[in-house]
Amino acid sequence: MGYNVAIDGPSGAGKSTIAKLVAKEKGYIYVDTGAMYRALAVYFLEKGIAPEDRAGIIAAAGEAEVSIRYEEGVQQVYLNGENISSKLRAEEVGNMASKTSIIPEVRERLLELQRSLAREKDVIMDGRDIGTNILPGADVKIYLTASVETRARRRYEELIEKGAACDYQEIAKDIQERDDRDMNREVAPLKQAADAVLVDSSDMTIAEVVEKIAGLCR
Ligand code: C5P
Repeated sequence: MGYNVAIDGPSGAGKSTIAKLVAKEKGYIYVDTGAMYRALAVYFLEKGIAPEDRAGIIAAAGEAEVSIRYEEGVQQVYLNGENISSKLRAEEVGNMASKTSIIPEVRERLLELQRSLAREKDVIMDGRDIGTNILPGADVKIYLTASVETRARRRYEELIEKGAACDYQEIAKDIQERDDRDMNREVAPLKQAADAVLVDSSDMTIAEVVEKIAGLCR
């Protein structure tokens, strides 16, 4: 069994940024479970299946084989043997992942992959249900959050920096909708595990959050 750190929280709380930095400092492997849901979403989009077509999504999930490899410490995601890592960050992929991750069969498809990575290696795994469902016995559990306003502002600034056109109100609405879907689904909803440490990053710098979380880990 590896040493396991679970880091859960809503979209845009900075989980991946923080988890990567803690992983580097501690020598853990960073496992991004959102990327696995996104990989399935890429498959659904390629097949042209609507997220509302539950039977279609379930059938397609059964055909999609997601696997993970680490190349120079960086997670690479394979879909039916093809490295699709460069496709994962697109807006439509995130949207499809958010809508299809509510389906139990979709979640079930990724469960063993996530657990097996944690068995084999020292990991910091980020997601929505890691501390509550995937790794209930994790050595450290963190619930990392920030207000909707803070998360929307960070996302807005990030997009402006990249020169992308965007609207703050639209971003805030999107974040709110993703929260609602994650927190209100029937299977493995997003919530703080009873034994998780709550970290609200609204008024913290990245360095402060990393220091706080690294301080809780072996
Ligand atoms: O974290 P990220 O935005 O990459 O995740 C994509 C989507 O996958 C999220 O909107 C969330 O609904 C879903 N997800 C999940 N459980 C996880 C990780 C992600 O339901 N452990």
